[in-house]
Amino acid sequence: MHVGYFITFEGVEGCGKTTQIKLLSEFLSAHGIDTVLTREPGGCPIADKIRSILLDAENRALSPLAELMLYAAARAQHVSEVIIPALNTGDIVLCDRFSDATVAYQSFGRGIDRGVIDTLNLQACQGISPDLTVLVDCDPRIGLERARRRIEASSGPREERFELESLPFHQKVRAGYLQLAADEPNRFLVINGAATIEEIFSTISTQLLARIPEAASAFC
Ligand code: TMP
Repeated sequence: MHVGYFITFEGVEGCGKTTQIKLLSEFLSAHGIDTVLTREPGGCPIADKIRSILLDAENRALSPLAELMLYAAARAQHVSEVIIPALNTGDIVLCDRFSDATVAYQSFGRGIDRGVIDTLNLQACQGISPDLTVLVDCDPRIGLERARRRIEASSGPREERFELESLPFHQKVRAGYLQLAADEPNRFLVINGAATIEEIFSTISTQLLARIPEAASAFC
C-alpha cells in the first residue's frame, strides 16, 4: 500500500491536459509541495523508446494488438521504475495519461475486447491505481485542430500517429472517457476543456485542494 498520492490527467488530443498538469505542478511547488511530473507512454528511458515507436506516424502498419502490448510494456516499466518508488516515498505523482487512456483508445477507439485490456492493465499497474483522475473533456474537432497547430509549430519528432486518425475514432475515445468517468464518479473530476486555460486551472486547483489532504493542509 503506497503512502503518496497519485493523480492522472486524461483527455482527447489537444484537450489542454499537458498545459494544466504543468501549471498544477508549478502551483503546488510554489506552495512548497513537490511533485513527480511524468507521462505515458514514456516517463523513463526504456518507456520513452517504446513511445517513439508508438507515436511515429510512419508506423501505420502497427497492428492494434501490438499497439496495445507496447502500451502495456511501457506502463509496466514506468510503474516499476518511477511511479511505485515515488508513491512509496510519499510523493504526489502527476501523470499525463495512464491506464484509462488504454481503455479509451484501445478498447473504445480500436475496439479491442475490454477484458483483454483490463487483464493487461492489471498486470502492468502492479497493484497501483490513480487516487484521482482529471478528465479534461473536449470536442475532438477543437482538440485535433489545436494538436495539429502544435505539431506544425514543433521542431521535434512528429508524434502524430493518433492525430492522423479519423474524427469518428476520436469521438469514440471521448465517449469512452466519459463512460469511464460516469462509472467511477468519485475518482474522476471532469472539467470542461472549452473554457480558457485560466478558468480550467482555477477549477482544477480549487477541486484538487479539496481532495488532496496534504495540499489542503499546506494552505491552512
Ligand atoms: P500524448 O499525445 O498525450 O502524449 O499521448 C500520446 C498518444 O498515445 C495519444 O494519442 C494517446 C495515445 N495513448 C493510447 O492510445 N493508449 C495509452 O494507453 C496511452 C497512455 C496513450
